[in-house]
Amino acid sequence: MTDDDHAGHGIELGDLSDLADGQLRCFEDIGPDGIVVCRAGGDLYALTDNCSHADTPLSEGRLRGFGITCPLHGASFDVRDGSHSGPPAWEGVPCHRVTEADGVAVVVLT
Ligand code: FES
Repeated sequence: MTDDDHAGHGIELGDLSDLADGQLRCFEDIGPDGIVVCRAGGDLYALTDNCSHADTPLSEGRLRGFGITCPLHGASFDVRDGSHSGPPAWEGVPCHRVTEADGVAVVVLT
């Protein structure tokens, strides 16, 4: 499946009920850079798994509240919209909509 095949279509992520608040999970085969899915405030969020500063997987970082911190230089991003909230990144990362129903999580890439 190509990246274009993923755009705008729902992609099942499976049952993520075991993903607790504050945890991250990487889905490396979704989209050109993979996505990182996390649960924060009880809801699921997904960002492209690639820091906008220097191409590092955010899934290897840390989630605190709604902020995910890059493991390499410490830039932070808001998981609710992908906006950058701390240097050295100067731009955000793509944010993808995640729904969860009947025990199945689905992401739609933007
Ligand atoms: S690579 Fe993420 S802050 Fe530098």
